Amino acid sequence: MNLADLNKVALAMVTPGKGILAADESSGTIKKRFDAIKVESTEENRRDYREMLFRSTEAMSKYVSGVILYDETIWQNAKDGTPLVKLIEQSGAIPGIKVDEGTQALPQCPGELVTVGLDKLAERLKKYYERGARFAKWRAVIDIGAGIPSMTAISVNAHALARYAALCQAAQIVPIVEPEVLMDGDHDIDRCYDVTQRVLNETFQELRVQRVELEGMVLKPNMAVSGKKCAKQASAEEVAEKTVRLLKACVPAAVPGIAFLSGGQSDEDATAHLNAMNRIGGLPSSLPWRLTFSYGRALQAAPQKAWSGKAENIAAGQRAFTHRARMNALASKGEWETGLEKKVA
Ligand code: 13P
Repeated sequence: MNLADLNKVALAMVTPGKGILAADESSGTIKKRFDAIKVESTEENRRDYREMLFRSTEAMSKYVSGVILYDETIWQNAKDGTPLVKLIEQSGAIPGIKVDEGTQALPQCPGELVTVGLDKLAERLKKYYERGARFAKWRAVIDIGAGIPSMTAISVNAHALARYAALCQAAQIVPIVEPEVLMDGDHDIDRCYDVTQRVLNETFQELRVQRVELEGMVLKPNMAVSGKKCAKQASAEEVAEKTVRLLKACVPAAVPGIAFLSGGQSDEDATAHLNAMNRIGGLPSSLPWRLTFSYGRALQAAPQKAWSGKAENIAAGQRAFTHRARMNALASKGEWETGLEKKVA
């Protein structure tokens, strides 16, 4: 392992003014997204849609540091035969790959899940590196509800995250470590804070035990937010203040950067929250790590709608993507304002 090179890639992924496009929806998830815009989820439509994003020259070259791909996409070619990975590289962004294989029920913990995919991971990483991937992602899912999460679910998921991260670094690939505490449910922001704190503490404990080099990874956490069904929704300032406090308590300064997931927040909330956190950090930031985005839904909902599967809408889809990427890029520097949202290109 060359830690200096891993650190260089990790820092590039969290370059101020840029963030990560999470375009790694599994076949099941992208079908759900396409169903919502009445587009059939064929291999060709999935390719056309993602090609539209990766050919959004302004967004990709100015605001996107890296793209997380799904296995199908990393092997796909654009309509003209150029590998999609090459389109990403040509734009100056770094290709990455989702390597977990989804979740399975934890038999001893009803209603809870563990993320799987460690078998043969070392061999798969080698092939992804050859294809151009320089970072990877593994998502653990922790749900909040009556009596959950159990310590068992937190512990097995943290263990798997650390196993994955160690294998990535051995393959010269930067691991994005993503322990996602879901925002579904009616819990308040303080319950989200407490659960996320337990999850992050356990995750970093496992990373230490398994000798993962913190300088060579990126953390992808949820923010501390109110559950979607909670009657009292925390303000952007409260989300920012509590999330930064939580991260300061749990995330070692050796971690180069934190790239948040959007997790079902509205497009504008995801941007406003990131912006408010970077304002707390001050400019230049007083925080030990860079804070940016690694959004899936909050970057893609608008372009998906604008495109709606029609070739004649490609330019509109690219405009919508560029707008959201720009808004989040500004938020990564604390320079976003709500008034900018009205000036959609
Ligand atoms: P969302 O931003 O839609 O939560 O997706 C990010 C991601 O990569 C989830 O694993």
